[in-house]
Amino acid sequence: MEKMGKIEIARQIKIFDTTLRDGEQSPGCSMNGPEKLEVAKQLERLGVDIIEAGFPASSPGDLESVKAIAGVVKNSAVAGLCRSLEKDIDAAWQALSQAASPRIHVFLATSPIHMQYKLKMTPDQVLEQAVAAVKYAKKYCSDVEFSAEDAFRSDPDFVCAVFGAVIAAGATTVNAPDTVGYAMPEEFGAFIRRLKEHTSGVEKAALSTHVHNDLGLGVASSLAAIAAGADQIECTINGIGERAGNASLEEIVMALRVRKDYWKADTRIDTTQIYPTSRLVAQVTGVKVQPNKAIVGENAFAHEAGIHQHGVLANRETYEIMTPESIGLQKNQMVLGKHSGKHALEDRLKQLGVTVTVQDLERIFVEFKLLADKKKTVRDRDIEVLARGVAVSAPETWSLDHWAVSSSSALGATGAIQLRYKDGSLHKAVVLAAGPIDAVFSVIDAIIGKEITLETFDIGAVTEGEDALGETNVKIKHGDRIWRGHGISTDIVESAIKAYIAAINAMEWDLSRSA
Ligand code: KIV
Ligand code: ZN
Repeated sequence: MEKMGKIEIARQIKIFDTTLRDGEQSPGCSMNGPEKLEVAKQLERLGVDIIEAGFPASSPGDLESVKAIAGVVKNSAVAGLCRSLEKDIDAAWQALSQAASPRIHVFLATSPIHMQYKLKMTPDQVLEQAVAAVKYAKKYCSDVEFSAEDAFRSDPDFVCAVFGAVIAAGATTVNAPDTVGYAMPEEFGAFIRRLKEHTSGVEKAALSTHVHNDLGLGVASSLAAIAAGADQIECTINGIGERAGNASLEEIVMALRVRKDYWKADTRIDTTQIYPTSRLVAQVTGVKVQPNKAIVGENAFAHEAGIHQHGVLANRETYEIMTPESIGLQKNQMVLGKHSGKHALEDRLKQLGVTVTVQDLERIFVEFKLLADKKKTVRDRDIEVLARGVAVSAPETWSLDHWAVSSSSALGATGAIQLRYKDGSLHKAVVLAAGPIDAVFSVIDAIIGKEITLETFDIGAVTEGEDALGETNVKIKHGDRIWRGHGISTDIVESAIKAYIAAINAMEWDLSRSA
């Protein structure tokens, strides 16, 4: 159990979450605007100090979603990433100016390999450009972070010189990433200590780290950095991020919380929001959490071996160092049925950490009633998946009216579908294909009349049992862009159809806005 009582907390570590930027830029993790907004609101509930909402200069869509997040988040600072270029900083400020606490985050690489091959700049030029970028960002915003990309593979004296110069130019946070996850934790701790001891003016700024997980050491190195005096940790939910990902937020936060006695340091994270946040991110990215993942994996609190079960039944502390409740994991209960009303549903959603608008609640309630009619037991996970699906879905250009599929071993499958267009008109088609999923997706392609490629298709069950809710995640490609869709139903073919239509609606929504 977390040791309670009189532990003196000497330091508060700031949590800078980059799920929506570094996490989102990794392959397969892209999120659309409404999804990013939903995740940002959840990160605010989780209590992160800073939400890095995106990289505004990277695309007009990213700028818009950072702007939308900046407009609603009040209790966390909102950061936008920029290269050390005036045009990037202008774009970041365009996105962030309405934020309650905006932060401009500029970066420039300092390692010999990046300076020589990527930037084609000398160390003097890098130092000069870093200072100029911080000064330029300061004209807009008092809170400016500077990151020395690939800091760990840089000459530490050069990093100290750059940090000293950007702090003198007004940087309020200096960040030393291990961009390629190369450091051993002890070595990384020594590196951070050296920066702390040899950077002039370091006491005027927060010292931050940002570690990638290429050798599986992201969390270990981040903790070593805290031991060495780091004030801020950059991390992501479920550890998503470039390549092998970033240090995982939930692991760092729980290491500090569970071993408060050791660290005498803590964060302001509400740990009971960890599990709902992890679920939301897995759902909107379509990237599942590995079952044995620390803290949020499906098996993190499961006790399979008889001897363990016996011990846990006698006293949970025999094999559990933290409670499932401490991360917001409720035991799966049979909570609601077909006679439950809207208030009961709303209450349950609140307990699950899912906040929805009045309009969303109406839509979720309709879906809930349909589900409760088909399924004997409606569990927390069912409700959560249902609600998240409704809350982050794009407006319905197309909706499912009817479907039928028949398949046989020798003759392939026939799919027939009728879709309703947003103007109310009905459109139907029939297609013969190799298998049932191929058949229904091909019919939909024929109806909407667009060239679509199915990039990924992932189907599974939400909960256990014969009447389990089927959950499908798809990614579709049209032109050179990718959209994701999520669908649930007690019928797995229907869940696949719904996921495919959801992806098409996300595509239609984006295309209509960029037209
Ligand atoms: O990994 C890295 O170095 C980064 C910086 C831009 C902070 O993501
Ligand atoms: Zn990174």
